[in-house]
Amino acid sequence: MNILIVGSGGREHAIAMSVAKSSRADKIYCAPGNAGIGQIAECVPIGAMEFEKLAAFAKENNIDLTIIGMDDPLVGGVVDVFEAEGLRVFGPDKAAAILEGSKAFSKDLMKKYNIPTAAYETFDDPEKALEYLETAKMPIVLKADGLALGKGVLICKTLEEAKAGVKEIMLDKKFGSAGNHMVVEEFMTGREVSVLSFVDGKTIKIMSSAQDHKRAKDGDQGLNTGGMGTFSPSPFYTDEVDAFCREHIFQATVDAMAAEGRPFKGIIFFGLMLTEEGPKVLEYNARFGDPEAQVVLPRMKNDVLDVMEACIDGTLDQIDLQFEDNAAVCVVLASDGYPVSYEKGFEIRGLENFENHEGYYCFHAGTKLDDNGKIVTSGGRVLGITAKGADLKEARANAYKATEWVDFENKYMRHDIGKAIDEA
Ligand code: AMP
Ligand code: GLY
Repeated sequence: MNILIVGSGGREHAIAMSVAKSSRADKIYCAPGNAGIGQIAECVPIGAMEFEKLAAFAKENNIDLTIIGMDDPLVGGVVDVFEAEGLRVFGPDKAAAILEGSKAFSKDLMKKYNIPTAAYETFDDPEKALEYLETAKMPIVLKADGLALGKGVLICKTLEEAKAGVKEIMLDKKFGSAGNHMVVEEFMTGREVSVLSFVDGKTIKIMSSAQDHKRAKDGDQGLNTGGMGTFSPSPFYTDEVDAFCREHIFQATVDAMAAEGRPFKGIIFFGLMLTEEGPKVLEYNARFGDPEAQVVLPRMKNDVLDVMEACIDGTLDQIDLQFEDNAAVCVVLASDGYPVSYEKGFEIRGLENFENHEGYYCFHAGTKLDDNGKIVTSGGRVLGITAKGADLKEARANAYKATEWVDFENKYMRHDIGKAIDEA
C-alpha cells in the first residue's frame, strides 16, 4: 500500500514509524513532514490545510490510504474532501470531528447522553457570561469554544481573574473566532489520564492509557504547552476506572455520535479527570495525542494499517487490539523559552546514537534540514525522546539516559516527567 500521512510533528513521526513497520506498507509520504520523518518517508511540501492539493497528490501518486494526524484539517473537513474524490482516508469527517472542534457541542452531547463531565454553561454574549460569574463558585474554568492550539482554557481562581478571562476570550478575541462562544465550567480536581481509542462508527477499541505533562516547567509550573512529556500506561488507570469508563463513557460517546447522525470513525482521545466522584470527561480530541502517540504506538502489537482499515470499513469488532506488557516514557526536548519565544536554527548533534538501539526512539517535531544538509531546530518542541522499559521506572530511567545522547544549543526539558509514577 502507498500511504500519505498529513502533519509534521512528533505524533506524525510516531505514526510514520508504525506504518513503516507494517509488511503491507510500500511507499510512505508525509505532508509536510519534518527532518526525522524524512528518513522513513518522502516529505511533500503541501500544507495540512491545503485539502485540494493533498487530494490531488493522493490521486496522482496512487495513495491507497491517507492518515490525518492533526486536528485542524479534521475539523476543517479534509476527510470530506477526500471522500468526495473516492479516496480512502483515516479520520473523522467534519460532522464527527466537531467532537473536538466545538467544546459547546461536546458538552451538550455529554449532558444529553448522561456522560459524566463537569457542570457547565455556554455563552455567546459576554454580558451574560459576566453576570453569571458574579454568583458562580471559584475557581472556575473558561473555555473558548473552538480550536485554539490547546490553549483556549483559562483556570481562574478569583472573580477578577474570571472577568478578565471573559474579556480576553470574548472581547479581545485572544484565541480568534474560537472565542465567539464560550463554555464556563466547574473546576474539577484529580489526576488526569489520556485514553486513546480506535472507533469505526459503532465499535470502540481502547488503547493503553497515558498521562501527559502540559505545563512548561518542573512541578507543573509555567504556561500550558502542547505537552512536555508522557508515560504509558498510567498506573492510576486501574481496572476499576477502566470498568467505569467502559460502562459510562467510551461506548456511550460512540453511540451518542451515531444517534446524532454523526458516526465517528478514527481516533477518539478521551481526556479524563479521575475525580472523587469518579472519572469525568475533561475534553474529547478527534486524533492521536502529541506526545501521547509517542508512548502508545511503539507499544502496540497490531499492524496499524489493519486497524485503521478496519475503522474505515466498520470491521473493528474483528480486531484483537493488543499492547506489549511493558511501559514507555517520552521526554520532550524543547527550545528554551517555549511556549512563548525561542531561538531556532541550531544544529542537532548525536541523532545517530538512536540507530540500532532497540526500544529507544527519537521522534522529531520542530526539526528541518538546512541548506547544508544538517538537521537543525525549527520549532518549540524539537524532539520527543521515547524509551521502553519492563516497567515505568525502568522506562523513565532509559528515556532520561537517552536525552543525553542528543544536544543542541538551547535544549530545554522537564526533569520530572513521570514523577507521579513514584506515588502510584
Ligand atoms: P482541555 O483543553 O479542555 O483539556 O483543558 C486543558 C487543561 O486544562 C486540562 O488538561 C486540565 O488540566 C485543565 N482543565 C480543563 N478543564 C478543567 C476543569 N473543568 N477543571 C480543572 N481543570 C481543567
Ligand atoms: N498532548 C495533548 C494533546 O495532544 O492534545
